[in-house]
Amino acid sequence: MFRTWNWLPNLFMSRRMKNELREAASDARLQAYAPYSEFPVGAALLTASGLIVSGCNVENLSFGLTMCAERVCVGKAIAQGEKMFQALAIIADTETPIVPCGACRQVLAEFAPSLVITSWTVAGLSQEFSLVELLPLPKQGILEVPRGT
Ligand code: THU
Repeated sequence: MFRTWNWLPNLFMSRRMKNELREAASDARLQAYAPYSEFPVGAALLTASGLIVSGCNVENLSFGLTMCAERVCVGKAIAQGEKMFQALAIIADTETPIVPCGACRQVLAEFAPSLVITSWTVAGLSQEFSLVELLPLPKQGILEVPRGT
């Protein structure tokens, strides 16, 4: 974890910052605990204040308890007092860049519904998504109280 020197809105993220984020995700991937899937994933969030918070997947013998790299990042960031996110990088050793699972999309949307996500392969291919396209309408109506009650 380190504080970066530049604060840039995600749409104008420099190549240098993109690389920094990819490297943080890549380093985190090496810490993955993935003995069951043997599919290590790394992720790194760039917070609004310019902090990079990285994470990896943490699996469990009870498979459903597995935490994806993205959700580990979110938990770490919140625990550090960072609630606004500019960008997310994820990385896995695949032919094509992976996409975050549905659960992670919802958890990310809690804090940054239009987050820019760059997914990398270890070989260096990348694909960019907006969370809006991956998960439209993440919150509509939920916990709304009906009018007049
Ligand atoms: N995984 C992630 O950590 N992030 C993703 O975006 C996709 C899947 C993990 C969960 C599990 O440990 C392994 O990859 C296989 O699904």
